[in-house]
Amino acid sequence: MKAAVFGQPPLRLVAGSGTQFSPLSPGAQALEACTPASLDELTLLAPPGVLERRYALAAGLAALKPGGVLTALALKTAGGGRIKSELEAFGCAVQESAKAHHRICLVARPNALTGLDEAMALGGPQQAGGLWTQPGVFSWDRIDPGTALLLASLPPLKGVGVDLGCGIGVLARDVLAHPAVTRLVMIDIDRRAVEAARRNIDDPRAEILWTDVRTAPLEGLDFVVMNPPFHAAGQKDDALGAAFIDKASASLRKGGVCWLVANRQLPYEAVLAPRFSTVMLKGQTGLYKVYEARR
Ligand SMILES: C[S@@+](CC[C@H](N)C(=O)[O-])C[C@H]1O[C@@H](n2cnc3c(N)ncnc32)[C@H](O)[C@@H]1O
Repeated sequence: MKAAVFGQPPLRLVAGSGTQFSPLSPGAQALEACTPASLDELTLLAPPGVLERRYALAAGLAALKPGGVLTALALKTAGGGRIKSELEAFGCAVQESAKAHHRICLVARPNALTGLDEAMALGGPQQAGGLWTQPGVFSWDRIDPGTALLLASLPPLKGVGVDLGCGIGVLARDVLAHPAVTRLVMIDIDRRAVEAARRNIDDPRAEILWTDVRTAPLEGLDFVVMNPPFHAAGQKDDALGAAFIDKASASLRKGGVCWLVANRQLPYEAVLAPRFSTVMLKGQTGLYKVYEARR
């Protein structure tokens, strides 16, 4: 019996267990790389974005044996209401139920499926604005306005640094344009972002890691750049941004500098103040603020 799970489905709703295939679980195998027709069961917390969700559903169906069972669920407000019709469009007969604001769809994988290749192409790695990217990664098809503000504020950096939560490498591309940067570690928890960044950043000074910033061993660095996440598992999570700031401070040498951008309403000043000797506002718009924080 080969069972698999994608993401972190709420265990009070479904009994999801088995090998993890989420791109947000460092080290997990990619669902799209799973041997076709090899799984007996898959429990999939469907992602909120349409292209990302159809890609995951298509990859999951391809990985299941004919007759294998797919349980796909999501909050109704996060795409759950569309899973049934999306699975039907792939040729599946779907039993749907509703529980705790979720839609839960149960499917026995049919012999014949349709439209998988199209969904995989639309949701797979692709180029946008001259960079490799993939639906589901942060701001996948445009430069985020916060990132743009940080880019406009950044001075030339030098020495050894880290890009915490590097995404597809938008900040790194500018940082590495300066020859005084001797090494840049880039870290992201999203495999798709890391794979795109590896295609976008062809520079021997860059080291790109698929791992969790919070557990990465970093110290003695000259600089940190970051646009920290403020969502985890689709929910607003100030603690995650605060953990990034904590890690930035711990990674820097005395006198090292952290450049970060944050949404104006986030309470980051209070997190920065005790961890850095100076904190200066270096740019702002109606929505974002850029800080230079010196250790
Ligand atoms: C706001 S985005 C910024 C991405 C990129 N630096 C940019 O400016 O376009 C935050 C990034 O942090 C990543 N991330 C979230 N939690 C993480 C964690 N615990 N460890 C590493 N990366 C994480 C997300 O996958 C996302 O790519």
